[in-house]
Amino acid sequence: MYNLIEGKKISEQIKDEIADEVKKIVSKGGKTPHLAAILVGTDGASETYVASKVKSCEQVGFNSTLIRFDENISENELLRAIHDLNEDDDIDGFIVQLPLPKHISEDKIIMAVDPNKDVDGFHPQNVGKLALGIPSFISATPLGIIEMLKRYNIETSGKHCVIIGRSNIVGRPMSILLSQKGSSGDATVTLCHSKTKNLKEIANSADILIAAIGSKEFVTADMVKEGAVVIDVGMHRTESDKTKSGWKLTGDVKFDEVAPKCSFITPVPGGVGLTTIAALLLNTLFAAKNK
Ligand code: GUN
Repeated sequence: MYNLIEGKKISEQIKDEIADEVKKIVSKGGKTPHLAAILVGTDGASETYVASKVKSCEQVGFNSTLIRFDENISENELLRAIHDLNEDDDIDGFIVQLPLPKHISEDKIIMAVDPNKDVDGFHPQNVGKLALGIPSFISATPLGIIEMLKRYNIETSGKHCVIIGRSNIVGRPMSILLSQKGSSGDATVTLCHSKTKNLKEIANSADILIAAIGSKEFVTADMVKEGAVVIDVGMHRTESDKTKSGWKLTGDVKFDEVAPKCSFITPVPGGVGLTTIAALLLNTLFAAKNK
């Protein structure tokens, strides 16, 4: 019988720890941590993510500011808004929710963020530090997954970790973290992507399989070794006649057939999505404390 990795439980634990720390900081006369988020346009998924981030700030006692722009905002106007947040002493960290409209260069935007306020960990300075093992802001999804593995005492040392998907936000930083020397690292990592040959065979040799390919129910039972740990980063809206809304969330893993083979597996929803937000709050607390 598999064990469910409960993202909700872990994220509540992390948020409680952060809330305690915020109380201590404020009781000693310190400043309340403050996270800002920029949202461009009205993409449904981005709206949901950002609303969740703002609500989570309230839960831990952070201040939060949501800055919304029309999808027609020019790149220069957005760069000016980022400059203002960089200069604003009350803002400890901020994020620009991705994806951005096509006329705006995401690279330019990411590089405009002050690396000391880059709580998404997307700036090249932070990615470079991560690669070298120097303390830095770590992208929230991989950081949340590391917290999951730690809190469920899942050993990574000497294990074969297979990551499917090489995105800058998830797959690549995940591969760096798991292969690093020390706690929650020391794994042998294989990073698979769209050009990988024999993906099924490679996935089948994984002790820990991380699905971050962005393709609905891509990972099937025949790709998973008996007793593997499976982490599902996917999030897809799927039509359903069993829910009031008419849709449900599914991941990159075909949960019903994969779960019986696993020692541990994350559900969707209720898995990685929640720990990602908790990790963003951890980064913001780190930013506030290290100012
Ligand atoms: N879009 C999807 N995930 C993320 C994230 O972690 N941060 C930002 N800024 N945008 C995203």
